[in-house]
Amino acid sequence: MKRSAPDPCAVVIFGASGDLTQRKLFPALHNLQAEGQLPEETSVVGTSRTRYDDEAFATAMRDAIEKHSRLPVTNESWEVFSHDIAYVPGDVNDDDLFRVLKERLERVDEERDTQGNRLWYLATLPRFFGPIAEKIAKHGLLDTGGWQRLVVEKPFGHDLRSAKELNTELSERFSEKDIFRIDHYLGKETVQNLLVFRFANAIFEPIWNRHYVDNVQITVAEDIGVETRGSFYEQTGALRDVGQNHLLQLMSLIAMEPPVSWDAEAIRNEKVQVLKAVRRWGPSDCESVIARGQYDSYRDEQGVDEHSSTETFVAMNLVIENWRWAGVPFYLRTGKKLPQKTTQIRIEFQRVPHLLFAKTSVEELEPNALIIRIQPNEGFSLTFGAKAPTHDINVETAHMNFDYEMHFGSGTPEAYERLLLDAMLGDATLFTRADEIEEAWEIVDPMLQYWSKGGTPGAYKPGTWGPRAAEDLLGTRRWHNPE
Ligand code: BG6
Repeated sequence: MKRSAPDPCAVVIFGASGDLTQRKLFPALHNLQAEGQLPEETSVVGTSRTRYDDEAFATAMRDAIEKHSRLPVTNESWEVFSHDIAYVPGDVNDDDLFRVLKERLERVDEERDTQGNRLWYLATLPRFFGPIAEKIAKHGLLDTGGWQRLVVEKPFGHDLRSAKELNTELSERFSEKDIFRIDHYLGKETVQNLLVFRFANAIFEPIWNRHYVDNVQITVAEDIGVETRGSFYEQTGALRDVGQNHLLQLMSLIAMEPPVSWDAEAIRNEKVQVLKAVRRWGPSDCESVIARGQYDSYRDEQGVDEHSSTETFVAMNLVIENWRWAGVPFYLRTGKKLPQKTTQIRIEFQRVPHLLFAKTSVEELEPNALIIRIQPNEGFSLTFGAKAPTHDINVETAHMNFDYEMHFGSGTPEAYERLLLDAMLGDATLFTRADEIEEAWEIVDPMLQYWSKGGTPGAYKPGTWGPRAAEDLLGTRRWHNPE
């Protein structure tokens, strides 16, 4: 299905000298332009406190694109792209910035025919989201006659209360359909494919429920530590950084009911239903259903308190109380300094009730499992029992494997390419809605409160799969660690 091209617009990036802009946004914009996905008029106006002029900013962005982009920068691609880059230095607390920005954007409209359409991208610290939205409105930057859309990065709030406040603040300036809350996991090709896999194939849906599924395991593992983000991470921790968003988003896509249509509201309605159905664990449950860990040497990282109790690992057991999933545990975990960088979902099916083959017991035989590799080595595999070629009947576990790259070739677009394009098209399917964010906070808030009462995360050695407590969560089951 070929999509139409977005309207010409000016993409206005706050936080334009930051890491995200350089590593993700500019490479994505360049690649979209190079692949002919954007109208030629599309312009980018960056702003931050760094005192660049247009040319110095464009040069810095070219370096960033060369370093981080999936596609090479060619003279031709740069010629087209650099023509449309502008920069306005300034402080977001200063009204002057917005006056200058307004003039600059009006000029862009005249010269590039961007028709007053604006994509406001806030790649700043979250505490600036509300004030920037307010100043944009106060200085009349929204009164252009074109469309106005706002993109905000995570973290969206620090807890339920702050997320609600932020939703209220933003909704005073932008309508919900024009607010695009990024969870970059939703832009990953394999995450989008989850819905296609589930709803374009007839054979999985009948077994996608409590009658056949024994448990679901979702792992977002990283081998790196907090690197240069120590002071941010100290205030955040694994549950807020990845648990509240990426892990719960993956879970909603796996657990949701078929939507009535392929549109943003229908899909998001079903995701919200999943989050609503998750049992809210109270303080007395938390001890047995969540586990936190901290890698040895975390406290030596730059920007980290020497007595820090911030978790760099979290595992939880969630229960979805509805007809499809009652009684099927969803085990979710994420952590830094684990053995490898990998994101996987494992749907583990029930064991056979009785095995006919004397030499193998039911317990010895691995249950069937569908493993969805979100990254790396994107693809699926299905494990099943097969007869080993011997004179005896020996059942061994075998895998049926589908590899994305082998099948479709390389060159998969980056998450940010898809998300930026969708925001320009006004398609909010892959963005998180206000009520979704609040439901997700409702799930993790009691856990955060429980931890705030005291205790410390269990220590784990870098290169291992987290603290002992994470194993205990599963009772008689066990985590299946990616190989
Ligand atoms: C971000 C977190 O949202 O996701 C980071 O803030 C984490 O701490 C990153 O490293 C992981 O994303 P990806 O795409 O590399 O799996």
